[in-house]
Amino acid sequence: MSPAPAPECVVGCRHVAKSFGHVEALRDANVAVRPGEVVALVGDNGAGKSTLMKTLLGINRPDRGDVIIDDRPVKLSSVRDAQALGIEAVHQDLALAPHLSVVDNMYLGHEVTTGPFGVLSRRSMMERADAALRDLSIALPSLTVPVRDLSGGQRQAVAVARAVMWARTAVLMDEPTAALGARQSEIICELMRTVASRGLGVLVISHDLPRILKAADTITVLWRGETVLVSPSADLTVPDLVATMVGYRKESA
Ligand SMILES: Nc1ncnc2c1ncn2[C@@H]1O[C@H](COP(=O)(O)OP(=O)(O)OP(=O)(O)O)[C@@H](O)[C@H]1O
Ligand SMILES: [Mg+2]
Repeated sequence: MSPAPAPECVVGCRHVAKSFGHVEALRDANVAVRPGEVVALVGDNGAGKSTLMKTLLGINRPDRGDVIIDDRPVKLSSVRDAQALGIEAVHQDLALAPHLSVVDNMYLGHEVTTGPFGVLSRRSMMERADAALRDLSIALPSLTVPVRDLSGGQRQAVAVARAVMWARTAVLMDEPTAALGARQSEIICELMRTVASRGLGVLVISHDLPRILKAADTITVLWRGETVLVSPSADLTVPDLVATMVGYRKESA
């Protein structure tokens, strides 16, 4: 039997609208991420980027339009539904538990049940977490150190590694370099490329335009809840992007 063809769109949405009371956060949001592709979602503050990411994760339910996973429209009712379809996220606040160790954080939010007693042994947990970190060339002092004792960049790397360890389809990241210095931001951008090279889709929200233009294959611009540009990053410059993000006017307007 020949293997199923790779999907064209591992995660995305078509014509999504979402309002919170009188605030129309999304009007016509469209995005598509192919396997092995890094797509950057950019836009001014309040453009709807985080709302869109939460919609792709089942945290928000769209008022109109479709969320697409593996080329199919899906109805997501919770983050669990998105996880069951292989989608993982790195939120801006990282959602790590500072007092817990690296290895415990890698398993946080994922019930591990295996073996006769339904519990994965501590040793297997350590081995799997260690392999996941090594696979991404992430060096940490130890896996048993509490996460609060790591640097900001190391914490970010743990959050990325956790997402990658569980993701089968795509990883979504909301401003993963926002709190980082230049060197650690570079490392996270390299991580994104490594994750994509494994065949996963990567959707990343960022305000760091110079860096994201280099790291992403494709740029999608949201302007007031609407997708107004989808372009290969190689065809864009930072001034082009800024003009589109802040000054977009519909030709008909
Ligand atoms: N849960 C919510 N309840 C009410 N309004 C919301 C909610 N979530 C988002 N909004 C509003 O929707 C709009 C889009 O917000 P969103 O957080 O998606 O923007 P963003 O593009 O991520 O901005 P930033 O770059 O500042 O993070 C904003 O006007 C925001 O106040
Ligand atoms: Mg946001």
